[in-house]
Amino acid sequence: MSRPLIYAANWKMHLGPAAARGFIERFQALTRPEEGRRLWFFPPAVSIAAVCEALDGRADAAVGAQNVHWEAKGAFTGELSLPLVTEVGARIALVGHSERRHLYGETDEQVGRKVGAVLKAGLTPLVCVGETLAERDAGRTEQVVVRQVDAFAERVRDWEPVVIAYEPVWAIGTGKTATPDDAAQVHQLIRFQLGRHGVDRRVPILYGGSVNQGNVLALLAREELDGVLVGGASLDPDGWAELVGLRG
Ligand code: PGA
Repeated sequence: MSRPLIYAANWKMHLGPAAARGFIERFQALTRPEEGRRLWFFPPAVSIAAVCEALDGRADAAVGAQNVHWEAKGAFTGELSLPLVTEVGARIALVGHSERRHLYGETDEQVGRKVGAVLKAGLTPLVCVGETLAERDAGRTEQVVVRQVDAFAERVRDWEPVVIAYEPVWAIGTGKTATPDDAAQVHQLIRFQLGRHGVDRRVPILYGGSVNQGNVLALLAREELDGVLVGGASLDPDGWAELVGLRG
């Protein structure tokens, strides 16, 4: 394998502790750690501890929170802090997922604060960027993605732990996937923009949006992609084990 690949499973509001444990037990039975492959799981927060326990220290796997607050504690009803998710085993935090941005009004400014807090807490941020269909149709993809990257890039001193996901909003949960060329083009744009921020290392960039067993190989054939962030196709252990096991 030419480059390490990250396969990230975003379970969204699915799989409570019992179901999550069952998923991991089945997945463990189906897969073995492989050189150059990282497996990341983003269960609902109530299932983080169960997933960590079931993974039983598996060296190629890590567990993350789907969302965190930038403050370490305080009167923020319904929110989760980095110390809280870290205590139950999270080592990664998804930041700025389009469902957070578009359904809950999360702003670029808030995404930036969260990225800063995740890094300060010593966790890995998986920062999501991506344009809506209206923005793409209006020819504004580049402008939107650059703006989203700039908003958090200024908060980053050390890029070592940072991972980015390009997820075009129109491709998430819709069955419409960006073509490998579309995805690769935006990945190049993100990388170019990182260069303008003086980033001199290869920050991994994942693609997300209706990735499944049928299209993952064509996407990962593009060397611009360092992995995939998957929702729907990550919810079944057999399907997920198959997807992460496919090789071109
Ligand atoms: P999807 O979700 O694979 O179901 O499109 C991807 C995501 O939202 O991260």
